[in-house]
Amino acid sequence: MGIGANIPRIDGPQKIQGTTRYVDDIPTEGVTHGTTIRAPAARGRITRIRFDPDVPWDEYVIVDHKDIPGHNEVALIESDQPALVASEFRHRHEPVLLIGHRSMSAVRRAARAVRVEFEPLPAITDPRQPLTADRVQYGADNVFKRIDIHKGDPDSAFADAAHVIEGQYETGSQEHVYLEPQGMLAYHQDGQLVVVGSLQCPYFVLSALKHLFGRREDALRVIQAPIGGAFGGKEDYPSVIAIHAALLAEKSGGPAKIVYDRQEDMAVTTKRHPSWVRHRTAVDRDGRLLAMDINVLLDGGAYVTLSPVVLSRAAIHAAGPYFCEHIHVHGEVHFTNSPPYGAFRGFGAPQTLFAVERQMNAIADRIGMDPAEARRRNLLRDGQTMATGQVYRDGVDLVGLMDHALDHASYVSRRAEYEKLNRKHPYVRRGIGFSTFFHGAGFTGGGETRLASEVWVEGHGDGTLEVLTANTEMGQGARTVLTQIAADTLGVTEDQVTAAVPDTARAPNSGPTVASRTTMIVGKLVEQACRDLASTVGADGASLPAAVRAWHRSHPGRRLVGRARYQTPKNIQWDEETYRGDAYSCFAWATHVADVEVDLRTYVVRVRNYVAVQEVGKVVHPVLATGQIQGGVAQGIGWALTEEVVLEDGAMTNNQMTNYIIPTAADLPNIRVFFEEQPAAFGPRGAKGIGELPMDGPAPAVINAVCHALGTSIDQIPLTPERLMAHLEGDGDG
Ligand code: MOS
Repeated sequence: MGIGANIPRIDGPQKIQGTTRYVDDIPTEGVTHGTTIRAPAARGRITRIRFDPDVPWDEYVIVDHKDIPGHNEVALIESDQPALVASEFRHRHEPVLLIGHRSMSAVRRAARAVRVEFEPLPAITDPRQPLTADRVQYGADNVFKRIDIHKGDPDSAFADAAHVIEGQYETGSQEHVYLEPQGMLAYHQDGQLVVVGSLQCPYFVLSALKHLFGRREDALRVIQAPIGGAFGGKEDYPSVIAIHAALLAEKSGGPAKIVYDRQEDMAVTTKRHPSWVRHRTAVDRDGRLLAMDINVLLDGGAYVTLSPVVLSRAAIHAAGPYFCEHIHVHGEVHFTNSPPYGAFRGFGAPQTLFAVERQMNAIADRIGMDPAEARRRNLLRDGQTMATGQVYRDGVDLVGLMDHALDHASYVSRRAEYEKLNRKHPYVRRGIGFSTFFHGAGFTGGGETRLASEVWVEGHGDGTLEVLTANTEMGQGARTVLTQIAADTLGVTEDQVTAAVPDTARAPNSGPTVASRTTMIVGKLVEQACRDLASTVGADGASLPAAVRAWHRSHPGRRLVGRARYQTPKNIQWDEETYRGDAYSCFAWATHVADVEVDLRTYVVRVRNYVAVQEVGKVVHPVLATGQIQGGVAQGIGWALTEEVVLEDGAMTNNQMTNYIIPTAADLPNIRVFFEEQPAAFGPRGAKGIGELPMDGPAPAVINAVCHALGTSIDQIPLTPERLMAHLEGDGDG
């Protein structure tokens, strides 16, 4: 067994049998159900809140900003977001009041009987709109963050280039559509305020509660409930709901719960940042990249939340996995009066990788070269430097990786075959396209150093072992994988190890479950903590359980804990000011190939076949890893073709699964997944992070395939049938 084996997933049986208790399933005696009264427009000042006199309001718990004992701020990078609006609101659906009652239907009735009256203020809902003084709401110019990456001297390279190619690319927002909407339960126990819920990052929620209530950490406790998917959507937003549920519990004196229904969840929670990326590229006669000038604009929404870090990942991935001597990337993320955009699988990289992978095809077209040949001449080779000056030394043959993917997809023969078909067929057009891409694992730059994550492995009196981390199982298989890593390191079987459910009262802060970091960064710490434990008892393998029991007999009443804390690898250097250095300790690499068919009668694009080849260091659990890749590809195909977030007043209006269209099994092709393994120095047994990687490649692969099928250039997603029709009929903006 151990690493590389498909052990049964630990949370599998309960989920299959339907006995897993998600937050809304936890039976709680006398619980107060809460709901949120929200701002009705993009920006305004509240003048009055009207309560319908027909409702018996004394039966209800009503919470407003005056009930907040500490700071009315949701603590994050900048604590600029209020938990409840005091006077001015900055986006539609911003929380104003909380209403609670023992009866769910009474809460719903009451919610319809409250009216927020306001005086409107000038709003900005498109970051490209010219800014007027009365719309400035952050700093001097509504810019949350600017990033510049400079390498070489692009200006002189542009002057002598054989070709200069320009492109503009646009990507839409995206809703996570996790199966389980967001929810939190709060109650008091043993003198502590306890919050249980669907969350990726228990310690983020803990620090938000600490800040808002002005209490010591030991007066608070955050426990993870089983999570029905998250994809980044439960990275920062859970802090808001946790605060709200906790405020209701405090005011009612009993347990309180807030669970969003699907429509509320889709309308109010964070989504992927919309993006506008401009490329200007200088290439020589042979298609070699001479200089890249890249401009990235993201819409951040009404509060800072995680936007500076999303921009950072977007900027660092913007030049793609290519070598180019002269690069300038300029990135900005702007304030708008939209609900804040947040973390979504890929975290900025899918946006800029879409742009660069379309641009690479535009370059190939201009010089009359196959897109594969254009990449062959430019993919990074060992010893070359990336945009931040980081030396590429993974030892992965990126050209070989690409060629393997193209072979699996029969790229060369299909390309010719489809071109022949397209000349003859009255309405069917087929195409094949691909993308070559990468994803940095773990926090960007000095992020992991600042997190200083800690992991414990405890040996219990009965000889069993328990992995204690704050990292959450959200369907991706974290519990299974961390158990495997511990068992493999200690040389015991998996049934001798458990992975604890994250609980801030029991587990150390091993950082958030984000950024493709759990297997690689936390897994490595699990490995180290296991070694620490084994050395304390002086045993491993078959003799370990007996040694653990013996340790307890000779140390009565004490805890046996192996510990590990993140240490920055010695050869990793990063300068946050200049954006020079090693942006990530390592990257995972991939080529994805999409085979599509366009029906010119309906303008529907169907992906017929899909090949995903990725180099991930070491595959810890092949079935789970394959599932990760297939799931990411499905999500990427949705973002490329059908998932359109329609905004009105800056907020989503198609907030239902009937009109926000995610791909179903019937819409998806067979997704063939292949792994290559080149063990990395930093992960457990060489494993790298893979959670976000598969989200980065599908959109450009699919759109490159559509462009091949139609002989046109499409630079905006989602490519809905309506947008494709407008593009082909020449009267649209597509
Ligand atoms: Mo993730 S998008 O880093 O939660």
